[in-house]
Parts: sequence; structure tokens; C-alpha cells
Amino acid sequence: MIQGKFITLEGIDGAGKSTHLSWLESFLRSMGKNVVVTHEPGGTPLGEKLRALVLDSSLIMHPETEALLMFAARREHLDRLILPALDRGDWVISDRFTDASYAYQGGGRGIFANKLDELERWVHGTFQPDLTFYFDVTSELGRKRLHSRIDEIKSIDRFEKEEDEFFDRVRKTYLERAHKFPHRIQIIDSSQPLERVKQSIKNIISSIC
Ligand code: TYD
Repeated sequence: MIQGKFITLEGIDGAGKSTHLSWLESFLRSMGKNVVVTHEPGGTPLGEKLRALVLDSSLIMHPETEALLMFAARREHLDRLILPALDRGDWVISDRFTDASYAYQGGGRGIFANKLDELERWVHGTFQPDLTFYFDVTSELGRKRLHSRIDEIKSIDRFEKEEDEFFDRVRKTYLERAHKFPHRIQIIDSSQPLERVKQSIKNIISSIC
């Protein structure tokens, strides 16, 4: 019986997820929750190896191979980390989950949604996050923020080297999904000052506690 809550964070590259994630983690801890923080692709030893493959900018990969690897990593992640943590009653925050596959492999790479629906059904049936924060920024702002961090990040991965048009399609798909699942996916305007974003997160979390 699942008791903990599963929260996922989504957004295009440069949307500010990492900053919001560490703040959300400390906020939940301050409320006395046991929190497990993880990310996709990855989160398990095998998942991290798959992550290295899908992000390797020296590799050419068919979009369907990319989607299959994302879901393969997710299968491990659910089995070894997410579901056991929820069963213990912990709160799990994942930096990305299946919405990212619809946005990047679906919107970005053009894989039909029905194929992703099949993979989703195969890998996690009807299981879904309790809550998803989608941090919305334009592709221009995302790129600007990414470039301002370029010294911190060692190298540009296969996704970060994509053009603005790719991120426009990714963003459009995220927004479509947020409108399709309004109870689960909360859109946060991530171009706002940090304090405003924190306040929005706080209000939303309070409504599910
Ligand atoms: P990201 O959160 O951007 O990692 P970092 O902040 O360390 O750069 O995630 C890595 C990339 O993986 C990101 O560009 C989006 C991509 N991705 C997909 O394309 N599909 C997926 O299903 C997932 C989970 C991630």
C-alpha cells in the first residue's frame, strides 16, 4: 500500500528545476517528511549507465532507441527506488519522469504519442505522480540560463545542443499535457522572481498535505 507522495519536476533545459528542487527538498524536510531525491534518466546504478549513453553527444541514436532507453531506465528506477521508498512512507521528489518522455521524445523528436502510451502502460500501468510541477520558461530564456551555467557544467549533452525550435516543441508538449492533466500538473511561471516561485510551490504543497 503506497503511503508517501511522489512529486516530479519538469521543464525544458534551463527552466531552473535544480534550484527549485533543492528548495522544495528543504521545505518538505522542515515539515518533518522523509524525503528521497532522485532524477531521470538515472537514479539506479544501471539507470546511471543508461543516462550516460542517452546523454552522450558523440552518439547518434534513433529517436525510438532513445525512448526505449528512457523507459528501460524508468523501469529500474520504479522497481529499485521509487516504489520501495513510497512503500516506506517516504516522499519522493524526482527531477523528471514520464512527462519528459512525452515532451522530449514525443514533442521534440516526433515519436507518436500512442507509442509512448504503450511504453508508459508497460512500465508503470496506471501509476502516476501525485503532483508534477512544470516550470515554464520560453526556449530563449532557457537557453540564456543554460549558457550562464556553462562554466559549471562540464560538457553540453545530446539534448542541450538542440536548437530553440526543438525546445519550443518540447515546451508546447509540456503545456498541452498540463492542460490535459490539470489536477496533477501545476504550471509555474519560472521567469518570475525566485521568491514568487517559492511561494507558489509552498501554496501547492500545503494543499496536498
Ligand atoms: P536534466 O534534468 O536536464 O539533467 P541536467 O540538469 O543534469 O542536465 O535531464 C537530462 C536530459 O534528459 C534533459 O535534456 C531531458 C532528457 N530527458 C528526455 O529526453 N526524456 C526523458 O524521459 C527524461 C527523463 C529526460
